[in-house]
This record gives sequence, structure tokens and C-alpha cells, in this order.
Amino acid sequence: MWDFFETVRRRHSVRKYRTDMAVETEKLHAVLEMACAAPSAGDLQSYHIAVVTTPALRQALAEAAAGQEFIAEAPVTLVFCSHGERAAAKYGERGRELYALQDATIAATYAQLAVVAAGLGSAWVGQFDATAVARLLKLDAGLRPIALLTVGYPAELPEPTPRRHLTEVVSYR
Ligand SMILES: Cc1cc2nc3c(=O)[nH]c(=O)nc-3n(C[C@H](O)[C@H](O)[C@H](O)COP(=O)(O)O)c2cc1C
Repeated sequence: MWDFFETVRRRHSVRKYRTDMAVETEKLHAVLEMACAAPSAGDLQSYHIAVVTTPALRQALAEAAAGQEFIAEAPVTLVFCSHGERAAAKYGERGRELYALQDATIAATYAQLAVVAAGLGSAWVGQFDATAVARLLKLDAGLRPIALLTVGYPAELPEPTPRRHLTEVVSYR
């Protein structure tokens, strides 16, 4: 296992996957457990994670995501959904519109780092038709897909991309 800093540094978006290597069930469970270890507003865990592995659904997801074919290639896609009503029950509109979204996003972030620590690769996909994805996956009403995370063994080693300098991004007050 890499330490945390090494894990963060080694995370790069992977958009090519080994089609001859499945994701082991234990690794997938470990990733999902880390996702669910994320903090959440009021500890309400206002999210749902749909695990997509069937080839037909993966292909349909790729089509719902502007034809990003690597989604069909990846053996697993995790679909992170916000559960607005769950957060709204305690926090009203702010819960529905902000906290549930943040809960789902943080869970996806934890999962993405866990994927790296498990020796796998991933890409965060935000460009998709949420209505189409909800219909394809027959999601319960009230669940809103907010991020897809493709997961699999990388078939490429992506180059690190540059980041804005800290002095540009951070201010001290
Ligand atoms: C909110 C969000 C939406 C994104 N949507 C897509 C997407 O639809 N397709 C894609 O290939 N990558 C997508 N990405 C991945 C980014 O392009 C990628 O993280 C960025 O270029 C930095 O590269 P790195 O992940 O290798 O560090 C998305 C990332 C985020 C956080």
C-alpha cells in the first residue's frame, strides 16, 4: 500500500482499460467501503452508489455520456447519486441542493483515491445525460446521478497534467 500522499500524486485519469482483467470482488468492496467512510452532512450519507458491470449497460452509459467509449471498455462504472430528500428531511433546501450533492461528491472522491491505492485506475466522468442514466439504471425517484467513476486495470500510464500554482489558487487572510 502506498502512503496517502503517494496515492494522491499517482492518481491520473485513466481512459484506457485492460479488457482481459476483471476487477476483483474484494478490491471493489474495499473501494466501496472507502467511499462510505466519507464524511457527510449530519452523518446522513445522502447518496447512493450504483455498480454497473454488465456490458450492455456499460455501453448504454457510454452513449448517455456523449459517446465516451472508455466507459464501455472499463469493467466497472460506479454511478454516484445524490439523495436529496434524505438530506432535505433535516436540512431543508440547503440539504437537498447542496449537502446531498457534496455527500455524493466526497464519497466519489474517496472511492477514486481508494481505486489508486488498490492498484487500479479510474476516470471521473461528469459529462452525461442524468435523466438518461437514471432511466437506464432504473434509479429510485429522488436519486440524481452526479458523477460516474470508471474503474479497471489501466492499459495506459497517463502523463501528469500541470496544476495552477498555489499562489494563484490560495489566499491567506
Ligand atoms: C467534475 C468533473 C467532471 C469531469 N468530466 C469528465 C468527462 O466527462 N470525461 C473525461 O474524460 N474526464 C472528465 N473529468 C476528468 C478531468 O478531465 C481530469 O480530472 C482533469 O483533466 C485532470 O486530469 P487528471 O485527472 O489526470 O489529474 C472530469 C473531472 C471532474 C472533477
